[in-house]
Amino acid sequence: MKIAPLRIGELTISAPLLLAPMAGYTRLPFRAICKGLGCGLVFTEVITAEGILRRSPQTMRFLESLPEERPVAAHIYGSNPDSMAGAAQVIESLDRFDLIDINCGCPVPKVMRKGAGAALMREPAKIRVIVQAISRAVSLPVTIKTRLGVSRELFNISEVAHAAEEGGASAIFLHARFASDKHSGPADWETLKRIKEERYIPVIGNGGITQARHATDMLQQTGVDGVMIGRAAIGNPWIFREIHSLWAGRPYHAPSREERREVIAAHLHRLYALTMVENKTRKPRRQATERDVCRRFRGHLVAYLSGMRGLRTLRQHLMEMDSMEAVMAAVDQVLNSHQ
Ligand SMILES: Cc1cc2nc3c(=O)[nH]c(=O)nc-3n(C[C@H](O)[C@H](O)[C@H](O)COP(=O)(O)O)c2cc1C
Repeated sequence: MKIAPLRIGELTISAPLLLAPMAGYTRLPFRAICKGLGCGLVFTEVITAEGILRRSPQTMRFLESLPEERPVAAHIYGSNPDSMAGAAQVIESLDRFDLIDINCGCPVPKVMRKGAGAALMREPAKIRVIVQAISRAVSLPVTIKTRLGVSRELFNISEVAHAAEEGGASAIFLHARFASDKHSGPADWETLKRIKEERYIPVIGNGGITQARHATDMLQQTGVDGVMIGRAAIGNPWIFREIHSLWAGRPYHAPSREERREVIAAHLHRLYALTMVENKTRKPRRQATERDVCRRFRGHLVAYLSGMRGLRTLRQHLMEMDSMEAVMAAVDQVLNSHQ
């Protein structure tokens, strides 16, 4: 299958294959792994614009990046156009991001109560103003990540996409579910197709890709300009390599046990190194940091070993694993028992 690079504003992305922003998962080490395996564009976790504007150290640590993961999008939330434009200027001044993406789809009540995330979909005119304000403040492309609507009763993605385009957005990332669905239920690819037909700017589809071949299905069935993958990449960043193999008509070789171990170890160690750098100002004890990192790694760890014999035992001992050595010993045990 012939695949064209994806263009978002002035930015050219080598493969129209994106890693979705996922709070608690898409920290720098995981993004770099996905990038290394063929993902074209990665996103930070969602970051508060107000926190960036105040340059709060707690917030700024989410803006760590490295050249190896570029191009990378800074994914921000907020509801005040001036604050968001100011935050975008701070991001641009860091000179390490390629795109500013506005969260218009987060269903978390704490975010929606502030008029941000999915709540913005109730006011398409405000989305237009925010996109406009950010576009005037920075030269980076500005995009939105959004949903079909807040709920079935408020199915207004057409208006939202139109408003974003009018405001100057360079692309729309569309999670084809309602905010009220959270992340469950079938994704509505029919609507992806319709929004792609309605808009001039690139529309990237998201939702419901659980296997490599679904990426091709989505491109073919909806005509979208690219596909964005979320949960299917957790524990299986190799999905990007598999999709490239499919597109090139090459056989796909699943990761060997050694490669899986190498990626798990690199992920864990880089997460630790990143956390040490982030915590420098707070003079942490190494042990506490290591414990904290092992705790935060659990979601990834279980997903990396999903379906393997021995995972149940590992799960029972998850709470006790508070050093990287203990985690890797448990990983070896599972990998070695899974021939
Ligand atoms: C744990 C988790 C965290 C997420 N965090 C964000 C977020 O911060 N911003 C956002 O726009 N979407 C977020 N999402 C939604 C994903 O970006 C994506 O739209 C959704 O998972 C659907 O894609 P999938 O079916 O491929 O997983 C999150 C999803 C999950 C599962």
